[in-house]
Amino acid sequence: MLGIETSCDETGLALVRGRELLADVTASSMDSHARFGGIVPEIASRAHLEAIEPTLDAALGQAGVGLSDVDAIAVTAGPGLVGSLTVGSAAAKALALGLGVPLYGVNHVVGHAAVDELVHGPFPERFLALVVSGGHSSLLMVRDIARDVVELGQTLDDAAGEAFDKVGRILGLPYPGGPHVDRLAREGDPDAIAFPRGLSRGKDLARHPYDFSFSGLKTAVARYVEAREDSGAGVPVADVAASFSEAVADVLVTKTIAACRAHEVDTLVIGGGFSANSRLRELAAERCAAAGVDVRIPPIRYCTDNGAMIAALGSAVVRSGVAPSPLDLATDSQMPL
Ligand code: KG4
Ligand code: ZN
Repeated sequence: MLGIETSCDETGLALVRGRELLADVTASSMDSHARFGGIVPEIASRAHLEAIEPTLDAALGQAGVGLSDVDAIAVTAGPGLVGSLTVGSAAAKALALGLGVPLYGVNHVVGHAAVDELVHGPFPERFLALVVSGGHSSLLMVRDIARDVVELGQTLDDAAGEAFDKVGRILGLPYPGGPHVDRLAREGDPDAIAFPRGLSRGKDLARHPYDFSFSGLKTAVARYVEAREDSGAGVPVADVAASFSEAVADVLVTKTIAACRAHEVDTLVIGGGFSANSRLRELAAERCAAAGVDVRIPPIRYCTDNGAMIAALGSAVVRSGVAPSPLDLATDSQMPL
């Protein structure tokens, strides 16, 4: 199975045989976006166009196989940037047509969970997946990764990584700010400032038990920093980073464990680039152990966008006997699960 991922700024191509990863090569255009402080869709699409053939060649070389060894192709059909998705899907369709092999359009968010099978082996019958990145923060109930994935909740505004990037900007850190805020947080006091936990109390919690909201928290950080600057008191940057990180990780982990309990699930998969966050990892490990939930987090190179996640999901789809996609498969920037 050849997996092709081009939903954002990473061109990822990978080859798997069943649950065995044979090759995984990623080209990123992040360096071209950094000076704009965010991903520029037009630059990302053009970078995919340039990168896709050499990345395919590199993946085939890494696996030691030729194009004629490819039996099926999986491609991200959405969600993502429409221009970026179009490059990957056009390449996938051309290859499927030329090689005479089936094409499978798959969901990027589900792929972030699916990749864990390549690392930790077959999934249990039921599990929860927390997919957290710069673009998504979703809590998924999975009964069959290929065809029965239900979204229990998602962010109503910013994704977790996006909130970190915005706080990074508030604190004057380079883009993307997430890893910098994380690093600073380790030197600060997580209890120094009581930042709000969105949708965690009363009516909000009752109405949105498994949804997240991080924009109020980001605004609270901005107000706090402004007030400190205005008063000339100086900003305790490490404490702000630590208290903010604590608020994000606390809400993510508290709601995820509540969902595990409510659905009687004892396995949690965490995926997406934000799973690199050190406080999320610590808190998830600590509280899941206390709740008797087994946590599976793939190594970070499989948590950021990559082709292996799409190839893994494509393999699962084939195993489940789902029919291939038509060659006029449409991409969908807002693709639901
Ligand atoms: O999955 P990913 O590579 O790309 C998206 O699909 O968004 O996730 C990247 C996001 C960025 O927002 C980045 O700042 C954030 O995850 N991130 C982190 C950390 N590492 C990456 N945020 C907080 N702490 C980290 N250690
Ligand atoms: Zn992603």
